Amino acid sequence: MLPASTLATAAAFLLGAVTPMASAASLVEIKEDFGPNPTKAGFFIYVPDVLPAKPAVLVNPHWCHGSASAAFRGSQYATLASKHGFIVIYPDSPHAADDCWDVSSAQTLTHNGGGDSLGIVSMVKWTLNKYKGDASRVFVTGVSSGAMMTQVLVGAYPDVFAAGSAFSGVPFGCFAPAGNNTGVYGYWSDDCAKGKVKHTAEEWGAIVKAAYPGYGGWRPKLQLFHGTKDEVLDYTNYGEAVKEWTSVLGLSQTPVTTTLNTPVAGWTKYTYGPNSWLEAYSAAGVPHDIRVQENTVLEFFKLNYTSDYFTWGQGGPTGPSA
Ligand SMILES: *[C@@H]1O[C@H](CO)[C@@H](O)[C@H](O)[C@H]1NC(C)=O
Ligand SMILES: *[C@@H]1O[C@H](CO)[C@@H](O)[C@H](O)[C@H]1NC(C)=O
Repeated sequence: MLPASTLATAAAFLLGAVTPMASAASLVEIKEDFGPNPTKAGFFIYVPDVLPAKPAVLVNPHWCHGSASAAFRGSQYATLASKHGFIVIYPDSPHAADDCWDVSSAQTLTHNGGGDSLGIVSMVKWTLNKYKGDASRVFVTGVSSGAMMTQVLVGAYPDVFAAGSAFSGVPFGCFAPAGNNTGVYGYWSDDCAKGKVKHTAEEWGAIVKAAYPGYGGWRPKLQLFHGTKDEVLDYTNYGEAVKEWTSVLGLSQTPVTTTLNTPVAGWTKYTYGPNSWLEAYSAAGVPHDIRVQENTVLEFFKLNYTSDYFTWGQGGPTGPSA
């Protein structure tokens, strides 16, 4: 039998071999000028101590009445970023009234038009430049207002984002008020929230394409999650979003695959187009406060793989423009 001290040393050595050193990385606010940010959105970032060459970037906009630090604390993304080696941007809403994101103004819904979306894109470009990141692997995911902003960003900046994942959101453009929405920041659309804004797939597709007229490049792929009992953003918005993004991606509205109880019992996964270009998860009985599925999101973005496994859009042959 080994002396206790030797055992302790052996245990410490083994622990050292499998457990990374306590991470010094933390949530940091970037206060320097990082590019156009007309609405003065706050910029917080989590950069792991150890990064691979050309790290991917994940943007995680918070929910209404949330904050960058609440989003940072509210998910596993920072821990997973340290584990897999990617950077997380946590934008902070500048709209003090409700801390929602502006998903209604003509500015935010237009490529390089201004609004919160442009400020967030400036954060992405600053990060790619500073950390020599992989511009073909920029992702966005969020819940509620963060899910609405996810759809705004993939719609208005298809050249910046490779993929998005939206939990309990609404389609791109759904919150825009009728009529002139120039400068109408942070409008709360009761009609959209209650599921009264409906369009055909073609109409939704045209709304997204109008954000960036003349753009003919690849489009981000997308994941949608929505609870059937959503009491804040009606479940109708799930079906409208499926119509919108199948149209944008040029896909049939008939699912290619249907999988029950994935990734949670009672949730049904539908895929559209080849290679899951669009994935939609209908969560039976789930209210607005949906449980984030970090592992399913990371798998979709291929962020839990060691090398550049992600082959969508600019990165490879599987994008719709290939
Ligand atoms: C829309 O509103 C903006 C800001 O109030 C104004 O400058 C613009 O002229 C309006 N556009 C139209 C077409 O009415
Ligand atoms: C990535 O995560 C998914 C979902 O948890 C898992 O099925 C897959 O095996 C993971 N891939 C790697 C390389 O770890």
